[in-house]
Amino acid sequence: MKYIGIINKYSELLDLPPHIIPVTLNEGNTPLIEMPRLANELGGGFQLFVKYEGMNPTGSFKDRGMTTAISEAAGRNVKVVICASTGNTAASAAAYAARGGLKAIVLIPEGRVAVGKITGAIAHQADVIQVKGSFDDALAMVVKISEKHPISLVNSINPYRIEGQQTGAFEICEQLSTAPDICCLPVGNAGNITSYWKGYKKFNEIKKTGLPQMLGVQAAGSAPLVLGKVVKYPETVATAIRIGNPARGEEALQAAEESNGKIISATDEEILAMQNKLALEGIWVEPASAAGFAGLKKEYLAGNLNLKGKTVVAICTGHGLKDPDIIAKQFKLKDPIPIGLDELEKVISKADIS
Ligand code: F0G
Repeated sequence: MKYIGIINKYSELLDLPPHIIPVTLNEGNTPLIEMPRLANELGGGFQLFVKYEGMNPTGSFKDRGMTTAISEAAGRNVKVVICASTGNTAASAAAYAARGGLKAIVLIPEGRVAVGKITGAIAHQADVIQVKGSFDDALAMVVKISEKHPISLVNSINPYRIEGQQTGAFEICEQLSTAPDICCLPVGNAGNITSYWKGYKKFNEIKKTGLPQMLGVQAAGSAPLVLGKVVKYPETVATAIRIGNPARGEEALQAAEESNGKIISATDEEILAMQNKLALEGIWVEPASAAGFAGLKKEYLAGNLNLKGKTVVAICTGHGLKDPDIIAKQFKLKDPIPIGLDELEKVISKADIS
């Protein structure tokens, strides 16, 4: 039988209402890729994996929760869905709404959303509305309008988003035949860490796969859960997690506490350095997606983590193609060379051809 997405695969584990009409793009089933060189840099003697969520249909993990949220809305005959977004939710909502024949309205913080995300939303013909404010301001607006008008909210406040996003944890447990010892991931609005922890607990109840420690990582300039207070003007190069007042912050803190884990922060420099390191392993992720790994490395270097003998999974949430500008602005292509072998030999490093 063909794989047709997470609702089909995990129907028995997901708490979805009978009225859903599945709207799928075959999301999920993403690769778990071993990272032996990076593991060696962190002292070796343990297994390290990337769960590469950039391989979902719209290039981010959001598709797992969007298939469930849009399917539920479609089943209620909803015509219009809305979300606030730093970009990936917008692109995913736009794609799934298009697939299901619904209209999507997406609110984004002015000037701060990566080009690969906005163009995704536009390609699927969502209404894209820029807000003179942050993601948090935009989220407050969409909550209010969805209370007043018959428009369904598909941010991760919507419980069906959490149901779908749990499936990342189910897949990891199946791929490893056990839960990892540590699961690290970036934290923005905190829906994903909430979902993963719920998913690990549910899978453990049924299949006795055990539970990981959750290591949630915020960007240092947008770290309300680390600081213990709302950040009014969040800043970070990792625009996907530029969020100062996470809607599921309490649940994220609870996941960290229950799992004997932590929520920490990583600086933009640490995040970008890790993005480059992952690219050298063949895995190009957007900056926010490197935050989980950056936090893992930071904890290891601080002597706070014993990794020996453990299995560690880092969730890389979105594809590098989403935010090409971050890389593009770091280099300038050299001038073109004339046609000819001599010309080519002149510009290739001697070491590479001798
Ligand atoms: N990584 C990426 C690539 C994201 O786009 C997001 C969130 C996160 C991590 C954090 O996940 O919010 O569940 O804690 N992006 C949202 C959006 C906010 O609008 O696309 P979270």
